[in-house]
Amino acid sequence: MKEGVKGHSLAMERNKSRGVLTLALFLALLEQGGAESERDFKMCGTWSHGKSGNLWFDLSRGCETIAIAANQSTLSIQGRIMGTCENSTTIPLPHISNKGESPFCVFWDPLLDLVQVEIGNRNHTLCRTVGLQESCCTFLSPESNEPAPGKYGIMNGSTKGDVITKNLQRMYSFFGENENCKQDFCEEAIESNGADLIEHLALRSGIMGEVDLPCAEVSTRELKQGFQGLDIIFSGPQSKPLKNAPLVSLPSSLMPPGKRNVKMVMSYYKQNILFQKRGDGDGGGEVRILNEVVGISVENEVIANLPDPVKIIFRHGPMAKNESTKCVFWDTREDPAEVTWRREGCDTIRRTGETECRFYHLTYFAVLVELRPGSMVDHLEALTYISGVCCAISFCSCVGLIFLLTKALRRKPQDRPSSIPIHRNLAIALLLLCLLFMSTGVLANVGTETLCRVVGAALHYSLLCSFTWMAIEVFSAFMLVYRVMDRFQNHRLLSLVGFGLPAVLVIVLVSIKDIYGTLEVVPSYDINNPYKMCWIKLGDRGVLVHYVTNVSFPVGVVLAGVVMLFLVLRQVQTRREWKQNRATFLSIWGLSCLFGCTWGLAFLNYGALSEAILFLFCVVNSLQGFFLMLRFSLLEWMKRQGSVMETSTGSTRQQMLQEPEKC
Ligand SMILES: *[C@@H]1O[C@H](CO)[C@@H](O)[C@H](O)[C@H]1NC(C)=O
Ligand SMILES: *[C@@H]1O[C@H](CO)[C@@H](O)[C@H](O)[C@H]1NC(C)=O
Ligand SMILES: *[C@@H]1O[C@H](CO)[C@@H](O)[C@H](O)[C@H]1NC(C)=O
Ligand SMILES: *[C@@H]1O[C@H](CO)[C@@H](O)[C@H](O)[C@H]1NC(C)=O
Ligand SMILES: *[C@@H]1O[C@H](CO)[C@@H](O)[C@H](O)[C@H]1NC(C)=O
Repeated sequence: MKEGVKGHSLAMERNKSRGVLTLALFLALLEQGGAESERDFKMCGTWSHGKSGNLWFDLSRGCETIAIAANQSTLSIQGRIMGTCENSTTIPLPHISNKGESPFCVFWDPLLDLVQVEIGNRNHTLCRTVGLQESCCTFLSPESNEPAPGKYGIMNGSTKGDVITKNLQRMYSFFGENENCKQDFCEEAIESNGADLIEHLALRSGIMGEVDLPCAEVSTRELKQGFQGLDIIFSGPQSKPLKNAPLVSLPSSLMPPGKRNVKMVMSYYKQNILFQKRGDGDGGGEVRILNEVVGISVENEVIANLPDPVKIIFRHGPMAKNESTKCVFWDTREDPAEVTWRREGCDTIRRTGETECRFYHLTYFAVLVELRPGSMVDHLEALTYISGVCCAISFCSCVGLIFLLTKALRRKPQDRPSSIPIHRNLAIALLLLCLLFMSTGVLANVGTETLCRVVGAALHYSLLCSFTWMAIEVFSAFMLVYRVMDRFQNHRLLSLVGFGLPAVLVIVLVSIKDIYGTLEVVPSYDINNPYKMCWIKLGDRGVLVHYVTNVSFPVGVVLAGVVMLFLVLRQVQTRREWKQNRATFLSIWGLSCLFGCTWGLAFLNYGALSEAILFLFCVVNSLQGFFLMLRFSLLEWMKRQGSVMETSTGSTRQQMLQEPEKC
């Protein structure tokens, strides 16, 4: 029953050869015994006749009864059941068996308005209308049967295999009821998920052109040799073009080579109800299929690997900004349990209000709508702009700071705080961080994936360096204040830790694949144009790495800072300088605190974060270098003030003011 249509994609995946692949399918034979529709009528029996016979029939419009009768010379069919067709004639049957017994069957397809009689291994079409019947006479059921007077008549009379009686009968009659056959057919197709039923029906109906059904608009065409391609808009009843119906553009390569003409069916389903996946869906509520589905098939051919694509433009109207479209096809594989929508091998071209899909094989096509979940940034453009500007300020500050610190390092060791090299290293790490952060967006869009991996790793390295140097700052400040005698001076060792430890970590992470690469940040206002940057990729491993290195590490540093601050405060409270310069001390401490706290904000970044905090985070974080510079200048200024006022204790106070960075 379902030749050509069903096997579409059976061979699709397996055939890598280019060009049109044609396979003559002999599924007709295999599917003979397939499910028969309730609508159709089939009455069979064995006609016991004389030496020769005729088939006489008289079919007229209406919905009453059909009587099938037989005597010695005539098998007669008289029915008032037809929708449109009327016919009456006598057909001589020269081929019937000379044994006096001939099996026969009478078929009635009310949807197609077709009556056929099979006798002597031949099918006779008694009546047929080209087209589908809306209102038709169906569900024919036995009304009465009359025994035969002599030895001629019908034996073993049955409908659809159910024996009515084995005895010899003169006549059987059946009556039908009026139904909306198209509606009925659509319900049947929906129930059996049988879009292929529709295409098959369109081919059987013999219509060339538009066939309209409640569940689909079908268009059949004959492709002739020298087919040049075709653009089609689906039209509705009375050939009115349908509003917003998909536009289909067929390539010339659709015509199977070596064929004179083939029939092609295109169907347009306004409801995707015929394409319900069996079994549970994937992705939960994140995806949905747009209602419109387009099916294209060529009779008795499997078409795959087309050199030019079939283009379908779905005109779905504007989508929500957080929705993205993707072309998909209905993969009809052997196992009906696995029938599903697939995305591979289709090109999607998105335009406002429409999506163009390009496919290289024939089956059913639709548009999948993906809903991106909430982790989107609402004002990504503004954020990238702001952080870019702040980063540039930071960058300049870092350059200035490094210059000043290098100058300060030239002073005599006793004239300068021992933490100067630590400050300088932190400034270097931040400089690198800003530089890479500013370039990562550009490099991600122009560079290759390999370059992006390198840049991503470098960016992570510079961030980790900044963290370690901040940790060292905290620790050294603590050492200076809490245990003044025990300055730790080994700056070589510190440099090794500050720059070496992150390097080891990043090298280990690089050796694990799939950590660094292009990260797409999706803005909520336009999810189809993600902002790309080179960073840690989103993925199970990437997220783990992010939490361990970029969240836990700074959180640990912040916590250590809090503990140390507590100890330091207890220590300095008793000192004289504390009482004198409380205000200045607290202001600098506050600045340091703000500086350190920004990394505390980073911790919140991957959770639900209000926009205000996100902006604050962005600004404060990218101004780190600037804060560092500000703090250094303030300290220098205070030192100068202090040395004017109180030359002897200046250096002690200076040490005291090297507050922990963290709050
Ligand atoms: C058989 O039936 C046909 C039609 O019903 C009738 O015309 C014919 O005369 C009948 N033949 C015999 C021998 O009864
Ligand atoms: C005659 O037509 C019926 C219904 O279309 C079909 O099932 C049957 O196989 C056909 N028989 C022959 C001999 O072609
Ligand atoms: C009427 O019956 C004859 C004989 O079977 C057939 O050739 C002809 O096509 C039929 N006409 C219609 C309209 O079906
Ligand atoms: C009628 O059917 C029975 C079995 O159901 C079979 O044995 C018999 O041969 C059939 N008669 C004819 C005339 O086909
Ligand atoms: C997508 O956007 C619409 C409005 O544009 C909104 O109602 C809906 O909640 C959003 N969905 C998600 C998952 O963000």
